[in-house]
Amino acid sequence: MEKKLQNQTAIITGSSSGIGAGVAKALAREGANVVINYPVEHVRQDAENILAEIKSNGGHGITSRCDVSKEDEVKAMFDETIKEFGTVDILINNAGLQKDAPFDQMTLDQWNFVLSVNLTGQFLCSREAIREFLRRGIRPEVSMAAGKIICMSSVHEVIPWAGHANYAASKGGIMLLMKSIAQEFAWKKIRINSICPGAIQTPINKQAWETPEALSELLTLIPYQRIGIPDDIGKAAIWLASDDSDYVNGASIFVDGGMTLYPGFTTNG
Ligand code: BGC
Repeated sequence: MEKKLQNQTAIITGSSSGIGAGVAKALAREGANVVINYPVEHVRQDAENILAEIKSNGGHGITSRCDVSKEDEVKAMFDETIKEFGTVDILINNAGLQKDAPFDQMTLDQWNFVLSVNLTGQFLCSREAIREFLRRGIRPEVSMAAGKIICMSSVHEVIPWAGHANYAASKGGIMLLMKSIAQEFAWKKIRINSICPGAIQTPINKQAWETPEALSELLTLIPYQRIGIPDDIGKAAIWLASDDSDYVNGASIFVDGGMTLYPGFTTNG
């Protein structure tokens, strides 16, 4: 069967673990060259391991160290990618983190750290990707669009989250960053959308699934009654990155087992 992303190159930020790693594997499965980005030296091996797995399945890619909140490092990652593969077709703005604290105890460092990686990182990477898409234009042999950006948001772009105000603010910010640039560049045939994952089993939310008690508590928030896996997001990313979704632009796609359906109202209200 023809692969949907053959001869396209995708940068996946924060793909040495979690959802990013799942998305990188999924895009590689569909033929994309993948750039496995990791933020700091001490997780280099994790990125190398993901790439080795992708290569053992016949995929192609490189690893690239870059802190997405640093302008010069973002530029260097794009330069390295273009040098290696010629251009960039797909950006997955995935890098993100949590530094949770009750709001009255939240430090400015905790606030700034989360906003700089989750929101400023998506600004810097999107800007670089759009510059490259505008320079290159459409490559009709690979896609109807001149480029695709997928922002990893969260159900918390709409669900308020006590004790996580910095994180929820960053995701709410991503929603209007994504929609504003989708509106700005649609006429250039650049498509920009978000995936809003619910609870996906990854290191970021380990405390919510590592014990049976925690998991059963979590499942009260998920009508579909299972925790998500990174490949659930990977499959959505393939669709949004491919021409199968060519008419989809500026959308927030919730992949959450129904977490945003107000499950507390199932039996009363
Ligand atoms: C958070 C996870 C959380 C999920 C659902 C995600 O955006 O990073 O920690 O489990 O939202 O609340």
